[in-house]
Amino acid sequence: MEILSNRIINMAESETLAMTAKARELKAQGKDVISLSIGEPDFNTPEQVKEAAKKAIDDNFTHYPPVPGYADLREAISAKFLRDNGLEYKPEQIVVSTGGKQALYQVVQVLVNPGDEVIIPTPYWVSYKEFVRLAGGIPIYVKTSLENDFKVTPEQLEAAITPKTKLIMFSSPSNPTGMLYSKEELKGIAEVVAKHENLFVVSDEIYEHINFVGKHQSIAQFPEVKERVVTVNGVAKGFAMTGWRIGFIGAPLVIAKACNKLQGQVTSATCSIAQKATVEAMLMDPTTSKDIIDMRETFRRRRDMVYKLLCDIPGLKVRMPQGAFYFFPDCSSYYGKSFNGKKIENSTDMAFYLINEANVATVMGSAFGDDSCIRLSYATSEDLLREALRRIKEALAKLQ
Ligand SMILES: Cc1ncc(COP(=O)(O)O)c(C=O)c1O
Repeated sequence: MEILSNRIINMAESETLAMTAKARELKAQGKDVISLSIGEPDFNTPEQVKEAAKKAIDDNFTHYPPVPGYADLREAISAKFLRDNGLEYKPEQIVVSTGGKQALYQVVQVLVNPGDEVIIPTPYWVSYKEFVRLAGGIPIYVKTSLENDFKVTPEQLEAAITPKTKLIMFSSPSNPTGMLYSKEELKGIAEVVAKHENLFVVSDEIYEHINFVGKHQSIAQFPEVKERVVTVNGVAKGFAMTGWRIGFIGAPLVIAKACNKLQGQVTSATCSIAQKATVEAMLMDPTTSKDIIDMRETFRRRRDMVYKLLCDIPGLKVRMPQGAFYFFPDCSSYYGKSFNGKKIENSTDMAFYLINEANVATVMGSAFGDDSCIRLSYATSEDLLREALRRIKEALAKLQ
């Protein structure tokens, strides 16, 4: 008999974490690896947030917090939703969890029954499909294309909906493509959702503050769907707080209560000290906060530089990302080519070729449901980015 459950045996490993681990392993062997696989800002957490955490310890916020999060934090998140997104969520509609990841996992657990269909536009963020499968749901992939900026259209969405469809999940700004939906595009999606009264939306907005084209737009702003949207956010990316493990939802009350019930059995609550620090982060207005603006502008400079360097590599198809900190170039014109007897057939071969031949860690597009592409993170210094792109160009030129 198997020791492990079918549930865990059938679950895919996080391939982004696997590539990061591979890069670490090669570095430990003394190889000069540049990691473009990582999904976290290379900045430090803002000082006032760190100070708030230190104060929380001194003030003895070291006991179990309330399951959905401290009241002052949920008030601060409620105010943030109103200030930044024009969304009204009362504190009882907010649940604070251990990262955006747990928040997303819980939402899927409380909404999806076995056999329910969940629409996931591809390319998608790696964990969505595993969350759906763990709940016994069926991921329904809707393929978007580079030519369409990797965005799903209302027509595609409508065509994918069946009586079994429960949920649609997507991120904007997107990991892995860096694209984001405009207000008009979200309105188009909201109109389709509004027509199907049992359909819910999970809107993952964790890259909200890393947006180079204008004001962030939330799909929950459309009243016709607000009662069927769960807005997911967190502090990992926009505040350089990946290690603090804080994410949250704003949701219809019935969904927030259900997540609270589940969280009460799973984690009790998330870290008291990280919660107190997050209050300080929520007070930072993205239109005036120097930390947020400086980080975004640094990412913008790197994006512009990497775009030029990528466009200079023959055979790659590249779109200019509008947010987050990733490029998702199409490298499929190299498939079928070889170097030293090793043939590149797909994005996994390409990612391994680049790490072995160029010492640059990327992530295979197949992890995100698109085997034509690879994902490059530009959350690293300009010097390292320039060197990494030089190495990639050189390695690709060897393929015949
Ligand atoms: C699109 C997306 N959603 C959610 C998360 C999870 O973030 P957290 O670190 O808060 O769990 C990530 C992190 O990589 C992400 O890229």
